[in-house]
Amino acid sequence: MSVEIKSPREIEAIRVASQMAAETLMLVGSLLRPGMTTEEINQIVHEDTIRRGATPSPLNYQGFPKSVCTSVNHVVCHGIPRSNEVLRNGDIINVDITSCYKGMHGDTSATFYIGTPSEEARKVTEAARKALALGIAQVRENARLGDIGGAIEEFVTSLGLAVVRDYTGHGIGRKFHEPPSVKHYGRRGSGIRLKAGMVFTIEPMINLGTHEVELLPDQWTVVTRDRKLSAQFEHTIVVTKTGCDILTRRSGVLLNSENFPWVSQGP
Ligand code: MF3
Ligand code: CO
Ligand code: CO
Repeated sequence: MSVEIKSPREIEAIRVASQMAAETLMLVGSLLRPGMTTEEINQIVHEDTIRRGATPSPLNYQGFPKSVCTSVNHVVCHGIPRSNEVLRNGDIINVDITSCYKGMHGDTSATFYIGTPSEEARKVTEAARKALALGIAQVRENARLGDIGGAIEEFVTSLGLAVVRDYTGHGIGRKFHEPPSVKHYGRRGSGIRLKAGMVFTIEPMINLGTHEVELLPDQWTVVTRDRKLSAQFEHTIVVTKTGCDILTRRSGVLLNSENFPWVSQGP
């Protein structure tokens, strides 16, 4: 499967959608509180996305029933928001937002702390945050796709943590998911050569215990086999001659995630 090279106009259109997703993610971060349900997050994402003139890509995507994925604690990815799922002090939650604007998708996610995290929650979350940064740092024209996974896997395994193998990053543009498949493990120096104008996500899922995952009977929710914690961060990026441009780069700090502002926990 060949990887599309996007034109400058296409890249700017993906950037607009990506910035909408990034803004909505920051909004969610600022509103997270113990006692909130994941269905409330879904409503916030849905309404904010529509308000921007975009549509939430997850809604009805291959039958996905909601506008955002909310993955709590041992849920690895694709968690379905629910009105009976209440966030508690000490939980971690990945909120994965994809906005579609004028036919282009932008995809980004972050893991947030609800209240005060345990040592383990902090370890896996900060490892996932750094894993994404290390993956992004590999990207430039003529680097290999495998450099990304190689760098991430080396770092994560050195901490005694595990990289999920069954789900990957992906090309993105007019389609939500397209080639290439971006593995978060593997060997440096392997895989296709990156070219300026390739647009894809990097979205490492990092587990505290085993890398093995299980699909729940709802056919969406992916959980760790050992039910230990999992964390994830995601950006949409475009390859450039000298590096890459993070299309979902945030204009501000993520409350309840970056800089550990365990603030706004409410009463
Ligand atoms: N946003 C997810 C990703 O990073 C995909 C979610 S698909 C859905 O690729 F249907 F669950 F929304
Ligand atoms: Co995503
Ligand atoms: Co993605």
